[in-house]
Amino acid sequence: MSARNNVARSLAPYQRIAVWGAGSLGALAMERWLPRERVSAVLDSDPAKQGKPFHGLTVSDPATADLSGYDVIAVCITAYLEAFEEIARRGFRGRFFSIYELMTDTGGQPQSELEKLSIDYLRARNGNLFLTLLSRPQFMTVATYRLTRHCDQTPMLRPLFYVALFFHYLSCAFTKIELPCTVKAGAGLWFPHLGGTVFNKDVELGACVNIFQFTTIGADDSGRMPRIGSFVTVNTGAVVLGDATIGDHSRIGANATVLGLSCPAGSTLVGTPARVIRTQNVAADRAKAAAA
Ligand SMILES: CC(C)(COP(=O)(O)OP(=O)(O)OC[C@H]1O[C@@H](n2cnc3c(N)ncnc32)[C@H](O)[C@@H]1OP(=O)(O)O)[C@@H](O)C(=O)NCCC(=O)NCCS
Repeated sequence: MSARNNVARSLAPYQRIAVWGAGSLGALAMERWLPRERVSAVLDSDPAKQGKPFHGLTVSDPATADLSGYDVIAVCITAYLEAFEEIARRGFRGRFFSIYELMTDTGGQPQSELEKLSIDYLRARNGNLFLTLLSRPQFMTVATYRLTRHCDQTPMLRPLFYVALFFHYLSCAFTKIELPCTVKAGAGLWFPHLGGTVFNKDVELGACVNIFQFTTIGADDSGRMPRIGSFVTVNTGAVVLGDATIGDHSRIGANATVLGLSCPAGSTLVGTPARVIRTQNVAADRAKAAAA
């Protein structure tokens, strides 16, 4: 299913939708993904945007808006966890999601590698495809990874597998991102920079994972493998090894070494060996908001 279909299906039960974020992501969401006719408000905490028109609606201040008038809030900003905290603090009774969660929620349906690639592209996109490949060549490695897996999984395309694999290896060598095509990655995989990144062939990544440069995600000496949840950011120089389970919406700090550590959703990990310095329990916040 495409990002648009995923968003439409996830928001189908809700009539009154508020959009949080009147920036470029909010604009894209309004233009392409959200059911525009059911969006009744746009909120943004930037005073410069408040009171201005945005896709036919007037931007309001979330601090003073009456959130009880909405069934669901679609958060369309990069720092969505801060918005989640504020929404939960305000005792909002409905549901709230980041736009990336809505885009990647297939309702349990399997997603093809090409469908995942379309969401990878949405995250990498910078103008058109040509400009994206020129300015963000690391997207090429994600694209060849998906295409190689697609050839492998599609019987008719199986003869092209080794051709695709050849180009994928070339792309990995060029971007210095060693991403074996046996890695299982959810949609929206993104490398903000080129270089120095290594994955073990059996690693599993959730949806919308961000991997910065000079990171290693691999096995420990016993061959145990980490599982990285969805919406996780692995920052510069981090090493994640062994039987680690990183909860959704977590951040691994620059140069952290995570050795077989399991952490809940919304964790921030730093240091060597890594320790959890903060947990923003997104799941608990949402449950609290829904039950209030
Ligand atoms: C992990 C990170 C996201 C945490 O950010 P934060 O929540 O704002 O954390 P704070 O700055 O409040 O720091 C909290 C504590 O953790 C420590 N800390 C933060 N990041 C750390 C890191 N990478 N390694 C070791 N300690 C770190 C701070 O010194 C501070 O310690 P203190 O409480 O003893 O003073 C951030 O520090 C980080 O590492 N960002 C990576 C940035 C990056 O790689 N960008 C890519 C650029 S190309």
